[in-house]
Amino acid sequence: MNDPIYLDHAATTRVADDVTQAMLRALGPGFGNPSSRHPLGTDAAASIEEARRKVAAALGTRSEGVLFTSGGTEANNLAVIGMAQSLRLAKPGSPSGHILIGPTEHPSVRASAASLTEEGFEVEVMELESGDPRGSLNIQRAAEQMREDTVLVSLMLVNNEYGTLYDISRLARAMGARAPKAHLHVDAVQALGKIEIDPAALVGGGISSSFALSAHKIHGPKGVGALVLSNACLDAGRMPRPMIYGGGQQGDVRPGTENVPGILGFGTAIAMATSDPGATTAKLVAVRKALEAALSEHVPSARVLIPWRDDAASTAAPQVVSVLVPGAPSEVWLHHLEAVGVYASAGSACQAKKQDLSPALLALGLTSDEARRVLRFSLCPSTTSGDCYEAARRMRPVADTLAHLTSAPSEA
Ligand SMILES: Cc1ncc(COP(=O)(O)O)c(C=O)c1O
Repeated sequence: MNDPIYLDHAATTRVADDVTQAMLRALGPGFGNPSSRHPLGTDAAASIEEARRKVAAALGTRSEGVLFTSGGTEANNLAVIGMAQSLRLAKPGSPSGHILIGPTEHPSVRASAASLTEEGFEVEVMELESGDPRGSLNIQRAAEQMREDTVLVSLMLVNNEYGTLYDISRLARAMGARAPKAHLHVDAVQALGKIEIDPAALVGGGISSSFALSAHKIHGPKGVGALVLSNACLDAGRMPRPMIYGGGQQGDVRPGTENVPGILGFGTAIAMATSDPGATTAKLVAVRKALEAALSEHVPSARVLIPWRDDAASTAAPQVVSVLVPGAPSEVWLHHLEAVGVYASAGSACQAKKQDLSPALLALGLTSDEARRVLRFSLCPSTTSGDCYEAARRMRPVADTLAHLTSAPSEA
């Protein structure tokens, strides 16, 4: 058996050794409850505040805007549901407010928004630019969809299934003109540690915004993340309405005894992942180009969905290379790839458990047959060009076996 080559970092990453060490301290000698008044408690509280400062520093925001959560899913729920509820329009007899979400959002955003329709909110989905293979958002149409009663706009920064990098700045400018009081939520889970996330530069100071983050995508532990409120959001005095109630921790916006080991691990992971964003992005781009080149050499029948471009019109995030493969459905490809030690995924890992086709792939204009034949390769900063070349080389015989097979029979 070949040594496995792990190209599924958008699903999760290996916990870094320094992160494990930080967590072990909190599991061992630093076991105190941060709410306790004795030194074990105050030390734990101080270490949490240190981690909060690290998360804030990574995004250039203030510490009081960092709300630790159980991960990206909860951060998205808290932002979408909590912010919409806190900005709910109070006119009796009128709808609670209008919400716009991106067309390829993670289920944690889509389902959160859908749940709000039961409370009288109206939810509309933005559109991709029709006929644009780069998968960009139709900003002009989004601007037209914005209304006076729009309370929330939610768009991911990097798509998890095929890595489109959305133009948050243009969307924020459109909001400035059309819906300046609305809150902009950005699911930045797949962007963190791959490209710089600077809310002040991305969104500007005029629009209140928030960012969902998850530790396990950046060599941190699973089950911890954060919702980061921008300085503009804090200045506007906005806080999401709590979704759980408890004993006052985190200003009672997200109470519950803090996950100290997870939070300390996250703090260490985010400091490592964001220490030199320019260099990290450049490294990922170089390796990504190597993967695209190796695929075109060994599996020329595979088509990269959002290819890298060296110009400003590029919409590809550096670390995700999704390809449309010929013949057999992605599940069959994955089994064959697994057998030769190449670990990837079909679309997104979260989608893999669901039978339905990915709305994000369909939004990109793929037919249902094509949407069943997408493989996602995702990199981390320590993936090498050699790993990518070897993975593509191992794919060649798999392609020879599978390319002539047909995908799922029906278009149902
Ligand atoms: C874009 C995006 N948002 C949110 C999440 C959920 O994050 P978590 O796994 O921490 O709940 C994921 C996880 O894959 C994701 O890719």
